Amino acid sequence: MKKNIIMSFVALTYLVNAQTQLFIPDTLVGPNYSLNMHKDSVQFFPTGKKSNTYAYNLYKYLGPTLIFNKGSNVSITMNNQIGDTTTVHWHGIHLPSKWDGGPHTPILPNAVWNPQFTVMDNAATYWYHPHMHQKTALQAIKGAAGLIIVRDAIESALMLPRKYGVDDFPLIIQCQQYNSINQAMPLGMQDSTILVNGARANYGYTVNANMPAQVVRMRILNASGERSFNFGFSGNKQFYQIASDGGLLNTPNLTTRIRLAPGERAEILLNLTGMNGQTLYLMSHASELPMGIQGGPTMPMPSWATPMDSPLNGTDFNILKITVIPQTTNPITTIPSTLTNNVPYTIGQANVTRTIRFTADSAMVMDGPFYFNDSTFDMMRVDYQIPINNIEVWKLVNETMVAHPFHIHDVQFYVIDRNGNPPGPEEKGRKDVVLVPPGDSLMFITKFEDFTDSVIPYMYHCHILMHEDDGMMGQFMVRSNLTGIKETKLDNGIVSIYPNPAQNSIIVDLKESGNSTFDITVHDLLGEIIYSEKRVNNKLIINSSQWQSGLYIISLQQDNKSINNKIIIE
Ligand code: C2O
Ligand code: CU
Ligand code: CU
Repeated sequence: MKKNIIMSFVALTYLVNAQTQLFIPDTLVGPNYSLNMHKDSVQFFPTGKKSNTYAYNLYKYLGPTLIFNKGSNVSITMNNQIGDTTTVHWHGIHLPSKWDGGPHTPILPNAVWNPQFTVMDNAATYWYHPHMHQKTALQAIKGAAGLIIVRDAIESALMLPRKYGVDDFPLIIQCQQYNSINQAMPLGMQDSTILVNGARANYGYTVNANMPAQVVRMRILNASGERSFNFGFSGNKQFYQIASDGGLLNTPNLTTRIRLAPGERAEILLNLTGMNGQTLYLMSHASELPMGIQGGPTMPMPSWATPMDSPLNGTDFNILKITVIPQTTNPITTIPSTLTNNVPYTIGQANVTRTIRFTADSAMVMDGPFYFNDSTFDMMRVDYQIPINNIEVWKLVNETMVAHPFHIHDVQFYVIDRNGNPPGPEEKGRKDVVLVPPGDSLMFITKFEDFTDSVIPYMYHCHILMHEDDGMMGQFMVRSNLTGIKETKLDNGIVSIYPNPAQNSIIVDLKESGNSTFDITVHDLLGEIIYSEKRVNNKLIINSSQWQSGLYIISLQQDNKSINNKIIIE
């Protein structure tokens, strides 16, 4: 009996103080990948219940790292075994919307989904996670996430550490809130449990990474639902940022901090040459974050609001212990002086500027719901129709009290302006997530290339997962040549639209469409929707008396079919 008590005391001490080596997820190399998403559970805490999790393949939490080579064709077989509907989204990857894994492409329980596409992205660190309508937070914080490493010729020609798990370390960092029975909570504003590659890090005391005494590379993903980190090292050791979300920077950026909001990635080089036997910590210097960024000092909250009072807010804390071990053979010991040559588009090339205001029901709201331009997400509403090859400026204006990491699918963008200033070196590269603090106004520029679709839209949203699920999301469709659109004969037996040219009204006559209904939208040549009506049969009269004269496109959509007609308003 006594022995048992001693034994369990020893076991408990072991669980509390044990240092585990950093877990490195296995890699899968192509061209064929298979992912099996399943339910599992993990004993994250020394006492109490296991936490229910989702994971891919052999893991109990997270999934393997997918290695993609630019230019290759990949085929991914995703098998949904979680007993609930899900999707899988390839965050940051440029691919057709039908393979993007957004909320319009659900994978039912026990179903298999098989996207196939060509990798067109630059070498960088991307990731995958579910994107199920209103369930992204719930599913992702249970562990459904993994990294994607894209390799290309430019990156491969550089003298960079790229021995995975040896001098090139994947770091998936999450901060989560668990309830009293150890289950992850989607509304995680009191998050205080840090996981590094799926292991509870206990502020650097329980997860150790052995890294060799040479230049090492870290690929850091902030996969948290809410928290931004202000990464740095103990002793303010300098490091070089070499990549942002979607590719290498032009030159390494020597710094002591890199702030990453949910969804953002950075690749960094840390020179550990001559440090064999020493230890240091990867930290978040959150005391330096301004108020309003989740993770920074806690704002005074109105009594009715959900508290954001995690003990980590506004403090500096360790995340990962690093023990420096002897050099490997053929170590990298120098930092390249140049990396690549990104050439951003210029504002003069833009066809259009779209303004997206971040809004809430009142200026006091801190825990949501938040909106874009005062409207909540609607699966049935396409917010922008974008002509293929458009170069666009998107202007983001945060009118709320909290910072929001804005993410757009399909493209990588360049930040061109933050509050009237050019971006800092850390934001000069290709990006797909950008943090917009309260009161800030930011412009990015991008080109919508290669893929069009008239059925499945792409998403843009806040990457604070609760905000996304609460409706801070919109969608856009990239359309083939909206101006020279393939015209369907006006009198084709399905529909006639007249008169054309029209003045005060347009008649859309759906001949004998009976019970079948159409969605009708009218957009101008910049792709702005100026009229939409759902589920129309029979005859519709559109009042066009307030429209400016010019050319418009009327689209009728039914299931996978769509008909587009030009119409002139005089
Ligand atoms: Cu990482 Cu739309 O998501
Ligand atoms: Cu994404
Ligand atoms: Cu948000």
